[in-house]
Amino acid sequence: MKKRIAVLISGSGSNLQAIIDAINDKSINGEIVVVISNRADAYGLSRAKQANIATKVLQHTDYQNRIDFDQALLKTIDHYQAELVVLAGFMRILSAEFVNHFADKMLNIHPSLLPKYKGLTTHQRAIDAGDKLHGCSVHFVTAQLDDGPIALQTIVAIAADESAASLQKKVHVTEHIAYPKVVAWYCDERLKCIENKLYLDSELLSETGFKLSF
Ligand code: GAR
Repeated sequence: MKKRIAVLISGSGSNLQAIIDAINDKSINGEIVVVISNRADAYGLSRAKQANIATKVLQHTDYQNRIDFDQALLKTIDHYQAELVVLAGFMRILSAEFVNHFADKMLNIHPSLLPKYKGLTTHQRAIDAGDKLHGCSVHFVTAQLDDGPIALQTIVAIAADESAASLQKKVHVTEHIAYPKVVAWYCDERLKCIENKLYLDSELLSETGFKLSF
């Protein structure tokens, strides 16, 4: 059975596109049942329409507070009977109620080697710290921002003359490999999150997940 996936976006949706492509070439045994954006102008909405996927815009500015917005979001996802929620550049902090409702079935991608550099400007902060390596993390979502058990990390080298823009590009390319891979594992029931620990093919993953070096 194909897993029903809801993808939440706020922007360009290049990670959404990578997942659509992987579904089309049958690397992911799932279907995207809805793409939800909190911004009406998110380019990812056009990508979804192009792929004949249902779209919904829920603008957080239309709601009185975070709880009301999250409640509307939750109802929409449940209406589509999604079994997996994929945050793909969804730039809203989610309430604990929302996160707990989708416990062990919500993934996020973050452009850093977590637990380093939660939040924004991750590439610049890695350069400023003099790090030699950087990358992205795909993780299950818990109530803490950019936290939760890590399924996979990609690793890229930071060059001596690296700029935040060039590093961001380098990492972005690896995100498009990492996210479809983890979604495929989940849909094939190879990856499981049990009591905040991750198992891939029944083997306990390390705290920073499976590694892909580039
Ligand atoms: C990605 O780089 C993703 O890692 C980042 O937003 C970008 C969305 O790109 N997410 C976060 O920073 C979440 N904390 P996309 O819209 O092209 O997929």
